Amino acid sequence: MGLVLVARREDRLLALAKDLTADYGVRCDVITADLTDPAAPQAIMARVTELGLDVDILINNAGLSGSGAFADTPFVELANEIQVMMTAVTELAHLAVPGMKERGFGRIVNVSSLAALMPPAASLLYTAIKSYVLNLSQALDMELKPHGVHVTALCPGFTHSEFHDVMGTRDASNKLPAFLWQEADAVVREGWNAVDKGAPVCVPGVVNKVTAAAVKPVPLWVGYRLGKSLNPFKN
Ligand SMILES: NC(=O)c1ccc[n+]([C@@H]2O[C@H](COP(=O)([O-])OP(=O)(O)OC[C@H]3O[C@@H](n4cnc5c(N)ncnc54)[C@H](OP(=O)(O)O)[C@@H]3O)[C@@H](O)[C@H]2O)c1
Repeated sequence: MGLVLVARREDRLLALAKDLTADYGVRCDVITADLTDPAAPQAIMARVTELGLDVDILINNAGLSGSGAFADTPFVELANEIQVMMTAVTELAHLAVPGMKERGFGRIVNVSSLAALMPPAASLLYTAIKSYVLNLSQALDMELKPHGVHVTALCPGFTHSEFHDVMGTRDASNKLPAFLWQEADAVVREGWNAVDKGAPVCVPGVVNKVTAAAVKPVPLWVGYRLGKSLNPFKN
């Protein structure tokens, strides 16, 4: 049994692995991979097999968002978002599921976003991608639950992390009221409780739950107008 951490920055991964092993006595391996590379999902799973491990729990967490207008963003940047958050998420699940089905046990957590439940925001490919992740997760959960494999889409709202620095929207996001924000550990705790209960969708935090419930009955044409006026990162 053990954990396998995957991302691009090896120094961060090694430091985290060392802490996790020291704090919890758990085996922790590190795989450095860039998920914009279409070969990465196959290579990651091959390395996991080499390590002598089965994937019982897959957490598809890596994500990023551009903030520029669609027409002004080089296609390679849009393609990278699609590769990391759609193609790699789908391929990693597709590679892990056969073993999970065979063993009669599996858990997949796909980190979507509250954005997936909100009206589409102008210019953001991110909303469309996270809607795909939400839909895919529910469809997989329906197909795989009878085989002991549960799939949960975790849909956080604004969460303190490096996300908005990478996106280049730190100044705009700092102006948002504090009550809209959650700490990452609170999101993870609630997300993991949802996984334990076999919930296909988890919207963590009271504010996010109320927001998701409030926009649900909104007709599409109203959502369209809301999306145009409410996007805090519009350019
Ligand atoms: N923060 C929010 O407000 C928020 C809200 C809703 C949903 N989410 C979602 O939550 C998830 C986690 O994001 P976060 O908030 O923790 O952001 P973050 O602090 O920027 O972390 C992103 C993580 O993804 C990894 N990553 C990014 N690009 C990668 C690539 N090409 N290949 C491999 N790994 C890559 C990063 O590691 P390396 O850079 O070392 O590769 C890092 O571990 C994402 O799916 C995001 O869309 C975030």
